[in-house]
Amino acid sequence: MSSAAFLAVALLSLQASAFPKSDEPAILRRACPDYTSYASTLHAPYSGGPLNLPYQRPTEACRTFSSPAVEKVIEDVTSRLVDKDLAQLFRNAFPNTLDTTIRWHTNGSASSANSKRDGAQWTGVHTFIVTGDINAEWLRDSTNQLTNYQTLAAKDKNLYSLILGAINTQSEFVIQSPYCNAFQPPSASGIKPEDSTQKDTVHPTYEPSFVFECKYELDSLAHFLQLGTEFYENTGSTEFVTDRWYKALQTVLKTIDAQSQPTFNSSNQFVPNEYTFQRETTIGTETLNLAGVGNPLNSGTGLIRSAFRPSDDATILGFFIPPNAMMSVQLQKTAKVVKAAGGPASLVAELQERGTKLEKAVHEHGIVQHPKYGDVYAFEVDGYGSRILMDDANIPSLLSLPYLGFVDRSDRVYQNTRKMITDKASNPYYLEGPQFHGIGGPHIGLENAWPMSLLVQAMTSDDDNEIIGNLNLVRNSSLHGLIHESIDVSNIKSYTRPWFAWANSVFAQTVLKIAAERPHLIFGEDAKPYTP
Ligand SMILES: *[C@@H]1O[C@H](CO)[C@@H](O)[C@H](O)[C@H]1NC(C)=O
Ligand SMILES: *[C@@H]1O[C@H](CO)[C@@H](O)[C@H](O)[C@H]1NC(C)=O
Ligand SMILES: *[C@@H]1O[C@H](CO)[C@@H](O)[C@H](O)[C@H]1NC(C)=O
Repeated sequence: MSSAAFLAVALLSLQASAFPKSDEPAILRRACPDYTSYASTLHAPYSGGPLNLPYQRPTEACRTFSSPAVEKVIEDVTSRLVDKDLAQLFRNAFPNTLDTTIRWHTNGSASSANSKRDGAQWTGVHTFIVTGDINAEWLRDSTNQLTNYQTLAAKDKNLYSLILGAINTQSEFVIQSPYCNAFQPPSASGIKPEDSTQKDTVHPTYEPSFVFECKYELDSLAHFLQLGTEFYENTGSTEFVTDRWYKALQTVLKTIDAQSQPTFNSSNQFVPNEYTFQRETTIGTETLNLAGVGNPLNSGTGLIRSAFRPSDDATILGFFIPPNAMMSVQLQKTAKVVKAAGGPASLVAELQERGTKLEKAVHEHGIVQHPKYGDVYAFEVDGYGSRILMDDANIPSLLSLPYLGFVDRSDRVYQNTRKMITDKASNPYYLEGPQFHGIGGPHIGLENAWPMSLLVQAMTSDDDNEIIGNLNLVRNSSLHGLIHESIDVSNIKSYTRPWFAWANSVFAQTVLKIAAERPHLIFGEDAKPYTP
């Protein structure tokens, strides 16, 4: 084949999935391979370690964003890491979100075109970040995808602008469709919306060219707040606190009030929830029973309902504890942001009060008695006395409560809970097999544990053996040089999602936390702590 013919074929086959970088010539952009297939095959140079892990970064021309500060951290960390396979994993995972998922970033100079389609305000700085293999932005994923870069935003103005844009974009999503979990490319980006193949009936209704999926997950709203509070904590900036952000914040408060309503009112009459969701499906966890309402919830708990979990699976009992804990933390942190921005004192007080009340509600209604472990946090409750005892790998989880800032890891009830959920006899979703083990969940099924759970377990541990054991187990099961969604416990070669940016971020975060707190575990005896 002549090189021209080869290029023509390459363009034909790759055009649909190319990830453009705005300043590259069109022909180069279109020749960039789809990253799902790229990540599914192995690329040189290999690590040279016992696992000989591949190098999986796209070529420079195909990366969707670049940051010298990020490249410096990669160099700093990989040059110190003793284990060559861990180094290769970090090299691939840390920049994965920048390399592959920034589908649109504008500093405001080019955003007026097409912006009529969805009624949102796309003027100013904006960033649209996809989850990986699905061409849509999840509020939860994108916040977590950016976490690792927050600490660098103070010194790299491109990262600062990237994250500021992400907050502004999430604000528009939340203002328009606060019940939804995943969103289409903004009209102003000129990128075509993705066709969702699902048949869903949802109230309140939404615009399908704006929303990719509309599962109401309390943690999505908490993650919107977290993106801003982390930015403030790391940069000291309140530049994102605009009229639009305030409007999004008020929308969050209104939504959580509506989702705090019980199923029966004070004269014991059924009052349908403002949000209902039904999908045509044969999978029970993909829809809500009782005509899209979900199981009944009692009055007087002070908890907020979540229709779905961060796995995008339906809750069984709507008072899902981990996102309530997370929301209580984020409301209190948001109070600090509003105060720092010189916002209304009444709003600062209201956010603080809502946060502390919710924290109290989690303690009063989320802690239950377990026959073996004593006081533990339930996964879900309904206010009638029913509870679900389990954990799921996705964040927020019970395992992640200290990571979310809700409790100290030495907390007695948390420690009991941790023992319960890592015990195969007590957590139905603790999965083990000859090759892999960890917490999984119903989303992928009963044979797959999730690397993310092992990483959260490492980040919430003070036991060197547990930390390095979990890190090494994730390393051993990441044979494509990237972190996957889930791994078959009987066969580590069988995994889901070659391209799942969030999991790569959690891995990098774990390595950076160990580098800062326990450098001897990965940099060798007597190594000095490293912080970017
Ligand atoms: C925005 O980006 C454009 C194009 O890259 C550049 O010319 C302009 O100076 C930038 N504006 C700001 C405010 O940074
Ligand atoms: C309870 O709901 C019923 C049915 O919607 C309504 O008629 C009644 O007024 C409500 N009671 C209260 C106290 O809100
Ligand atoms: C990882 O694999 C190596 C050999 O390839 C093995 O020695 C080690 O025990 C494994 N570690 C874990 C935690 O599974």
